[in-house]
Amino acid sequence: MRHPVTRTPVAVLISGTGSNLAALLRAAQDQDCPYTVVGVIADRDASGLEHARAEGIPTEVVRLGDHPDRPAWDQALARAMARLDPQLVVLAGFMKLVGPPLLEAYGGRIINTHPALLPSFPGAHGVRDALAHGVKVTGVSVIEVDAGVDTGRILAQAPVEVLDTDTEESLHERIKRAEQPLLVDVVRRLTAAS
Ligand code: GAR
Repeated sequence: MRHPVTRTPVAVLISGTGSNLAALLRAAQDQDCPYTVVGVIADRDASGLEHARAEGIPTEVVRLGDHPDRPAWDQALARAMARLDPQLVVLAGFMKLVGPPLLEAYGGRIINTHPALLPSFPGAHGVRDALAHGVKVTGVSVIEVDAGVDTGRILAQAPVEVLDTDTEESLHERIKRAEQPLLVDVVRRLTAAS
C-alpha cells in the first residue's frame, strides 16, 4: 500500500477542472502528509475526476438529473459519501449546496473553498461579482460548511489584488494560485489534529 494506514481519510467533492483536487493529491504524495484522499465524488462528468482516476482513487458521479427530486439526490450523495467513510469532506469547486443528509452525517467536518473574501461575494459567482463591484482586493476563503450559502466559520483567507486589466478568467486564475496552497494547508492542519 502506498500510504500508511494511519493517514486521515479525506473525500473530495468537485464539479469542475479540479485544480484544487490536483493540489490536494500532489500534497498527499509527501511522506509526512497527514491525510489520504480516499475518493472523489462529482455531480457531473467533471474533467477534474481524471486527476483521481490517474492515481487509481475511486470516483463516483451522482447527478441531480438521475434522481426524482433534490431530497433524493441529497440522500444519494450522502450514501456515496458513507461508502467512502471519510473523516473530512472537502468541497473543492463543488457547485451545489449540500443538503441535510450530508450535513447531519458530517456536521463540522465539511469544508469549502470559495474564490472571494467572505462574507463578501458569496454564491456561485464570487469572482465575477467582486470584479463587477470594482473591489481592488479580493481573494479566497476556506470555510466550514453550514446550512447557509457560504456562511460558515472562516478557517483561512488569502488576499489577491485585482488588476485594472483583469477579466473574470485572469482574476480567477490568480485566485486559484493562492487558493491551492491555502486549501492544502487547512486540510493538512485539520487532518493532523483529527
Ligand atoms: C475554485 O476557484 C473554487 O473556489 C470555486 O470553483 C473553483 C473550482 O476550481 N468554487 C466556488 O465558486 C464555490 N462557490 P477547480 O475545479 O480548478 O478546483
